Order: sequence, then structure tokens, then C-alpha cells
Amino acid sequence: MARVYVTGADGMLGTALRRALAEDPATAHWTVRGVSLQDFDISDARAVADSVEAFRPDVVVHTAAHAVVDDCERDPALALRVNVAGVRNVAHACRRTGSRLVSLSSDYVFDGAAPPDGGYREDDLPSPLSVYGVTKAAGERVCALLGDRALSVRTSWLFGGEDARVDVVLAALRSGADGAPAALVHDQYSRPTYTEDLARALVFLLTRPEPVSGTLHIANAGTASWHDVGLALRELRPHLPEPKPLAMTECGFVGGRPRDSTLSTGRLTALGLTLPHWRDALERFCARL
Ligand SMILES: NC(=O)c1ccc[n+]([C@@H]2O[C@H](COP(=O)([O-])OP(=O)(O)OC[C@H]3O[C@@H](n4cnc5c(N)ncnc54)[C@H](OP(=O)(O)O)[C@@H]3O)[C@@H](O)[C@H]2O)c1
Repeated sequence: MARVYVTGADGMLGTALRRALAEDPATAHWTVRGVSLQDFDISDARAVADSVEAFRPDVVVHTAAHAVVDDCERDPALALRVNVAGVRNVAHACRRTGSRLVSLSSDYVFDGAAPPDGGYREDDLPSPLSVYGVTKAAGERVCALLGDRALSVRTSWLFGGEDARVDVVLAALRSGADGAPAALVHDQYSRPTYTEDLARALVFLLTRPEPVSGTLHIANAGTASWHDVGLALRELRPHLPEPKPLAMTECGFVGGRPRDSTLSTGRLTALGLTLPHWRDALERFCARL
């Protein structure tokens, strides 16, 4: 595989993926085309078709999304356009070019009320609580229509970016550096995941001789609340003020959130890859900063 097309290329994951593809000796010579909202809106079917057909990729990694949960709740029409019609447009273009599709989805497709021991598996039934979760679940259904040429990758609670408005870890570090303790949710759980590790896992998948299809969970090991992550940050950076625990009910969340959306990553392990613990990932992110 040699031609990779990345949507959402300037987003948190898209940025990490382009870096990982450029750094890995197995993919450094591949031709990568990254597109962002500045190039065109993913809900514009004609623009997507023209761009994908001009590049003729072997694989499209579709990371572009409207990923701010509260904003999706406030504007469901926009969320549907970007997160469902967007996947449809990309899938349609992949069909025409014969490209494989790897489309990103979320742990928020689950309601988190009673996760199975070891976390949600790929074949557990989605039951989203928010507009965002509904649109991601719908995007998975669209992606699945490409059959064995498509893979939906569910991940959770990304950190590792450069934008403190969407990165809880970066926001906690910034507010702590200003002397203000970060207020972090203590009663919601998932698997915090470093974009760099997720990007490396995607490169692992893209370089496998046998393509992987269906649904796959990718997340760092270990379940935590964001407050747990804040406490771990303080162990790494003792000058930070102690984070304040915040209950989900105090957050002013718009729309529902799963209380525990821990993903099981057994299928990824069976494929030969297990990501490090989130504490290890957090340490590497802090060292990189
Ligand atoms: N962040 C998380 O915690 C998390 C957790 C689970 C799953 N995911 C999924 O993982 C994927 C990557 O997430 P991320 O955190 O990297 O998101 P992100 O940082 O918000 O990046 C998404 C990118 O999509 C672009 N975009 C938004 N609307 C668009 C449109 N209409 N047309 C074209 N591009 C558009 C954004 O452009 P602008 O920057 O210009 O707005 C942004 O660069 C998404 O599918 C998300 O749903 C994320």
C-alpha cells in the first residue's frame, strides 16, 4: 500500500497520523495526502469525490468529524451532515476508486450504564446517549456497507494535541501552570488514549499484509477518570495545583455521557498489538511538551 489519503489532517489525530506515517521506516516513502476543512467541507459530496478520485488512494483514513459533543447536541443538523453524510461521501468516493476505508468512531456509541467485564467488545450493541454518539454509530453503519474493504476504528478520550480547547490534558497543564487548579470529572470512566499511540496503531494496521475489516477498538491500556489523569499529571509535574474533582452532574454537559465506556481491546491484542498503559503515554506526552 503506498497512497494514503487522510481527512481531518490538521485535527488532533490527523496531525499525529501524518507524523507517524512520515517517521515510520515502513511508510516514510508512501505518498500521503492530507485534507482539512480549509480544502473543502466533508459534507460536500462533489468536492470529496473530486479530491479522492484525483488522488486515487489505496486507503482513506477518515478522521474528520464534528467531535465536540455539546456542539453536536446544540446543532444536530450540522452533526448529521459532518459525521454521517461526511462518512457517506468518503465511502462513496472509496467505492468509485476501489480504495479501502478506515473510519474513526467513538466509545460514545455505548451508553456506559453496565459495561461488560473487561469493557465493551466490538460486537456489543451500541446505545448512544448523545447526538454525537448517534451520528458516530450511524457513520459506522454507512462504513460497514463497504464490506470487507472497510474498517471502523473506535477509540476513546484522545489527548496529545496542541489545542487546549479540545485536549483535556493540555488544558489541565495550561491552567495548572497559571496556578489555577483544573476542575476534572471524577465519576466518568474510559480509556484515555494518546494520539501518538493511536496513530502508530493505525500505521501497524496499514502495513499488515492482511487487511483488517469490520470494527476494531484501539485505546491505551487502563481505565481512568479525567480526575485520575489530573492526579497522575501532578505526580509528573509536582508544581501543578491539585485538580478539583467535579461530578458529571456539575459539568453543565449538554446531552448524555456514558458513565463507563471502557473499550475492550482484545481484538487488537489478537492481531498482535497492545498499546501501553495511559500513565506511560501521559509521561511520554509530558516529556514531548
Ligand atoms: N477527541 C476524542 O476524544 C475522540 C474520542 C473518540 C473518537 N474520536 C474520533 O476520532 C476522530 C478524530 O478526532 P480528533 O480528536 O482528532 O478530532 P479533531 O481534533 O476535532 O479533528 C477533526 C478534524 O475534522 C475537521 N473537520 C470538522 N468539520 C469538518 C468538515 N465539515 N469538513 C472537513 N473537515 C472537518 C476539523 O477541522 P477544524 O480543526 O478546522 O475544525 C478537524 O481538523 C473523529 O472521528 C472523532 O469523532 C475522538
